[in-house]
Amino acid sequence: MLTLALIQTRPRFLDVAANWHSAAALIERTEADVFVLPELFLSGYTFSTADQAASAALTQDSHVFDAIRELSAARGIAVCGGYAESANNTLYNSAFLIADGRLLANYRKTHLFYRETQFFAPGDSGFLTVEYRGARFGIMICFDWIFPESARTLALMGAQVILHPSNLVLPYCQQAMYARSVENRVFIATVNRVGRETNSLGDDLTFTGRSQVVSPNGEYLLRLNETEETVRTVAVDPAVADDKQLNIFNTILADRRPQMYHPSMRR
Ligand code: ACM
Repeated sequence: MLTLALIQTRPRFLDVAANWHSAAALIERTEADVFVLPELFLSGYTFSTADQAASAALTQDSHVFDAIRELSAARGIAVCGGYAESANNTLYNSAFLIADGRLLANYRKTHLFYRETQFFAPGDSGFLTVEYRGARFGIMICFDWIFPESARTLALMGAQVILHPSNLVLPYCQQAMYARSVENRVFIATVNRVGRETNSLGDDLTFTGRSQVVSPNGEYLLRLNETEETVRTVAVDPAVADDKQLNIFNTILADRRPQMYHPSMRR
C-alpha cells in the first residue's frame, strides 16, 4: 500500500518562495509516501506576457529545488508538482517528481491550453513512467486530459498510478478523468488548484478545485471541494491497476483492436 497526499493550493501569483513555503508547511504536517501538487503551483497561472512567465521560471539549479530535494530526502517521500521550467532558452510547462532527494522525472506538458501556447513551448519529454516504492507512476499535466491518448499511453507504458497536476477551469474535467481511470483501469490523482486570477489581457479564470483520486474500478477514493486550500490523504494498492480484466471475457488494453482504428492510431 502507498499513501498519496493531494495538496490543493491557492498560489500567490509570481511568488515562488511563498508558494513553496505554504506547500512545504502542508507537507510537513502530513504523513504520506507521495505528495502531489497542482500544475504551476510555484508561480500561479494567468500570465500576461512571456516575460512574466519567464520571471517565475526555474531551472533545475534553482534554490527551491534544493529545498524540495532536501525535504524529500529528510522525510523519505516523493513530491510531484508543476512549475514553469526554463531550459535551453525555452520555457516549458513542466512537472517534476522528486523522491528521496533525487529528480526521478521531469515531464514537459504535451498539450498546451489556451494562452499557454503563447508563453510555453510544447513539451518534448514525451510521456514518462517511473518506479518508486515498488509502484509505477506516470505523469500528465492538466489539459493533457482532453486527449485520451495521454492516459492511454501511460497505461500502455505500465503506469499503475497517474499523477495529474492541474489548473482546471472547464467544469467537466474531473468527470472526464473518471472515464480516463476506468477505461485504462489505473489510479488517477488529479490535483487541482483553487482561487481566481485575472491578467492584463482580460482573462478572468476561476480554478475549480475538486481534486480527486479515482480507482481502476471507478471508485472515487477522495474528492476535495471547490474552494479549500487543503491536504488530504488516501491509501492505494497500486497492484490493483495490474488487473485489467473487466469480466471473464474482456481484458482492457489486451482487447484493443488497433487495426480497426484510424491509421494514425494503429501503433
Ligand atoms: C490547463 O491545462 N491548465 C487547463
